[in-house]
Amino acid sequence: MSTDIVWHKYEVNKKTRAESLGQTPRVLWLTGFSGSGKSTISNLLEQKFQEQGKHTYLLDGDNVRHGLCGDLGFSDEDRVENIRRVSEVAKLFVDSGVIVLTAFISPFQADRDLCRDLLEEGEFVEVFIDTPLDVCESRDPKGLYKKARAGEIKHFTGISSTYEAPVNPEIHLTYKDEPAEQTAERLYAMLEEKGLV
Ligand code: PPS
Repeated sequence: MSTDIVWHKYEVNKKTRAESLGQTPRVLWLTGFSGSGKSTISNLLEQKFQEQGKHTYLLDGDNVRHGLCGDLGFSDEDRVENIRRVSEVAKLFVDSGVIVLTAFISPFQADRDLCRDLLEEGEFVEVFIDTPLDVCESRDPKGLYKKARAGEIKHFTGISSTYEAPVNPEIHLTYKDEPAEQTAERLYAMLEEKGLV
C-alpha cells in the first residue's frame, strides 16, 4: 500500500446510515463444507430478514466467483485471497448500514478471523453450519464430491483440501435431518436469543 494516501472523514457515516435504516449492521458469516446448506439457509434467512423490513445483502461463494473473484481457483493461496476480498466487501456493506450474510466455505480460521478483525466488536458473527462431511457427500447437489473422489477435481474441501472447523463460533448450528426451512428457523431463533436480530 502506498504511504501517500490518507483517510477522508465524511459527515454521513456508518452510524448515520445505520440510524436512517433503523438497524444494526453486522456480518453473519456462514462457514461449512460444500453441500452443508450455507446457500440454502442464508437464502431463507435473508427472506426472513426482508420480511422484518431489514436491509440485507447476501454474498455467496459461487456467485462472487463469477465476478469479483473470477480469477481465483481453489488452491490454499487463492482461497485466502477469495476470503480477503470478500471480507473487505463485507466491511464496505457494513459501513453502508446493511446486514450482510455470507455463504463461503471459508476453510481457514485465520481468514475468518481476518474478517472479524476488520470489523468492530460485535459486528462479526461466525455461524458454523456443522453438517458432517458424509451427509454433505451423500447430498452432493452439484456432483462435485463424486468428481473429487474420482480425482477429477483437485483440492476439494474435506476430500483433498483442509477444512478447519470454527474454534469458538458465536453460533454452532448442528445437523438435524429436517427440512431446510426448519434449520433456518432454528438459526433465526438462535440469533434472536443472542440479541442479534
Ligand atoms: S472458499 O473455500 O471459501 O474459497 O470457497 P467458496 O468461494 O465458498 O466456493 C465454494 C464453491 O465452489 C464450488 N467448488 C469447490 N468447492 C470446494 N473445493 C473445490 N475444489 C471446489 N471447486 C468448485 C462449490 O460449488 C462450492 O459451493 P458450495 O455452495 O460451498 O457447495
